[in-house]
Amino acid sequence: MAGPAPDPLPSQRALFDIPDDVAYLNCAYMSPLPKASLAAGDQGLRRKAQPWTIAPADFFSRSEAVRAQFARLINADADDIAFAPAVSYGLAQAAHAVPLRPTQTILTLAEQFPSNVYPWMDLAERSGARLVTVPRPADDDWTAAVLARIDAATGLVAVPHCHWTDGGLLDLETVGAACRRAGAALCVDATQSLGALPFDVTRIDPDFLAVATYKWLLGPYSFGFLYAAPRWQSARPIEHGWIARRASDDFTGLVNYQHEFQPGSRRFDVGERSNFALMPAAQASLELIGGWTVPRILATLSRRTSAIAARARAELGIDSVADRFRAGHYLGLRFPGGMPADLPQRLAAAKVYVSVRGRAMRVTPHLWTTDEDVEKLFAVLTAAPR
Ligand SMILES: Cc1ncc(COP(=O)(O)O)c(C=O)c1O
Repeated sequence: MAGPAPDPLPSQRALFDIPDDVAYLNCAYMSPLPKASLAAGDQGLRRKAQPWTIAPADFFSRSEAVRAQFARLINADADDIAFAPAVSYGLAQAAHAVPLRPTQTILTLAEQFPSNVYPWMDLAERSGARLVTVPRPADDDWTAAVLARIDAATGLVAVPHCHWTDGGLLDLETVGAACRRAGAALCVDATQSLGALPFDVTRIDPDFLAVATYKWLLGPYSFGFLYAAPRWQSARPIEHGWIARRASDDFTGLVNYQHEFQPGSRRFDVGERSNFALMPAAQASLELIGGWTVPRILATLSRRTSAIAARARAELGIDSVADRFRAGHYLGLRFPGGMPADLPQRLAAAKVYVSVRGRAMRVTPHLWTTDEDVEKLFAVLTAAPR
């Protein structure tokens, strides 16, 4: 039984550097870096100007703390986490690890983000497996659409937690259970969800999860994580950096070449993962999210997006995915007669930032969003000729 909904959070705008006249409703594009993360990153970058302040132990201590911090977010063990600078990198590790046979299939969603498609196109070419695209369901129920296509031939299911175009939600616990029944691997791109949607690896049991931090984790660009389930932690990584090998913390013995890796998923760490500039920034962002808690972030953003969706429908006849099939933090508005041609210019002139993609407009607020921001959005939408 789900408990009572957590209390929404008050505005956190003061923690971000957003001018009053900017209505930034575009977290799905890129979050603003919180002031605290900027300060931490700035301090980290400055250490490189004085390298005598960077000790060998510093190559490990903060990385291990951040690994553990990220692990807590998804209820994993720190040993299960690797550093991956992009989703494409993390999923390249997954595609290198999972063996497929020519008779098997790989499932992806229609219009899925390319970083979670190209690695599988490549794996299909290498293995002879067939890529199967789940068509967009007319009723927006992605979970049912995916379940209907998982069968004995399915070798791998590569999906997001919610669709990047409109927030269409997948019930990954149910999809994960179906994958296990079929003997298929589950690979999740959580870039448009983690930090706003709860994710528990003990319930979903993905084989791999990759995430970039620069959206809903409020972190820097070129920084991310890969979760690899314990059952994959003896797979071969795609690169072979010195720090991923056993005893790499002994800088005097690095040429005593080691066959063994550091424990767990550390073998999948990207080279130079200690990243003295971005690591502290990512740490500060994870600390903020940990303090707010993901359920409270979700409660706050769900309330905001549901109100925008209901008003757009009632006042302007603009549709979106029904709340029960939509991730609470994520909204895609669908203009029934197509997008007014000059809408992007009108939005830009009013300093209202959203993502316009084809016929849909992504509206993704966060804790910095105010009622005034939403009023500005509606002022533009109402004034635009339809
Ligand atoms: C769903 C999704 N995954 C991943 C990314 C980023 O991918 P990468 O880290 O490979 O650049 C984006 C960026 O828009 C995205 O929307």
